[in-house]
Amino acid sequence: MLKVFGVETSCDETALAVLAGHRVLSSKVASQIDLHRIFGGVLPEASSRRHLEVIYSLYKEVVSEAGDDFDLVAATFSPGLHPALLIGASFARAFATSRGIPLVAVDHVIAHVWVGRLAYPDLRPPFLGLVISGGHTALMMVEDVDRVRLVADTRDDAMGEMQDKVGRHMGIPYPAGPVLDKMALEWAGEYPSFPIPRFKDGSLDFSFSGLKTAAMRAYDSGWAREAVARGIYEAATAQLVDRIRRAVKTYGRYPLVVGGGVAASSFLRQRLSGMGLDVYFVPRQWCTDNAVMIAFTGLSLYEKGLVADVDTDVLPQGVLWSG
Ligand code: KG4
Ligand code: ZN
Repeated sequence: MLKVFGVETSCDETALAVLAGHRVLSSKVASQIDLHRIFGGVLPEASSRRHLEVIYSLYKEVVSEAGDDFDLVAATFSPGLHPALLIGASFARAFATSRGIPLVAVDHVIAHVWVGRLAYPDLRPPFLGLVISGGHTALMMVEDVDRVRLVADTRDDAMGEMQDKVGRHMGIPYPAGPVLDKMALEWAGEYPSFPIPRFKDGSLDFSFSGLKTAAMRAYDSGWAREAVARGIYEAATAQLVDRIRRAVKTYGRYPLVVGGGVAASSFLRQRLSGMGLDVYFVPRQWCTDNAVMIAFTGLSLYEKGLVADVDTDVLPQGVLWSG
């Protein structure tokens, strides 16, 4: 059974994990929420310095639980904040070189949904993958771990980014998602209604910046925070449902795998469960950034022979695998 070391540093979490085949031996996440709360958002330079500070002690913790006899090392190489990605990728490159073990370059967005296969062994591609996080709102047709077609992306803010910004405007500390989700679920009163954006060219792309501005205006005009939270979640989930329905019409009725930090939302889970589709939600502990998803996706790539050169560069904007 292969022992995989996973490394994730693409944004504001330093995360390491070890898998033995499909079994999780250790998973650690060092969050930088305290650091970025001061700035009200993620500062790339500060993020990379913090990754460098904590990565070695986190490594010690992980190997004390799981041993260090790894067969391969998998790290996030795309997409993410450039200085942040470089810390994990350099760590993994040095590690692979010094140990003489293979290096696998993993795409963070694909990993967010591919980890659904670890949770649900019966789930097989092709499937539709929806990643909703602080940095991404992406709908993908996943044919295999290395054959992923982007169906829709956000044209402006990601859903998580939108809710964190509206939350901040209403005095809710970063990340506002879990608080807004709870408010939206519990609010039984009236709430502001926001429209669903559609593009004239028929594109399935998402857009959340109009909702962000409208929600901030609603709050400024006197709506309670709870009512605004409900309004945001109603409108954002209605937009997701609209895009998923249209994607199913175009691509066919495939299972839908939903991952990324915002996929931890109970409101969203309720709404997407009611669509009459075969929906697989990534378990909550693997929704927010973690290295289990990186190690697992790395293992799948390795099993297909997709090993990276040790001088592989990071790709901050791009998607590593497509097809
Ligand atoms: O995937 P993630 O940890 O980081 C990125 O790759 O961006 O996602 C972070 C996002 C933030 O917007 C945060 O507010 C949101 O996920 N989030 C939630 C919940 N937990 C985290 N949103 C709604 N409900 C939650 N329970
Ligand atoms: Zn993420």
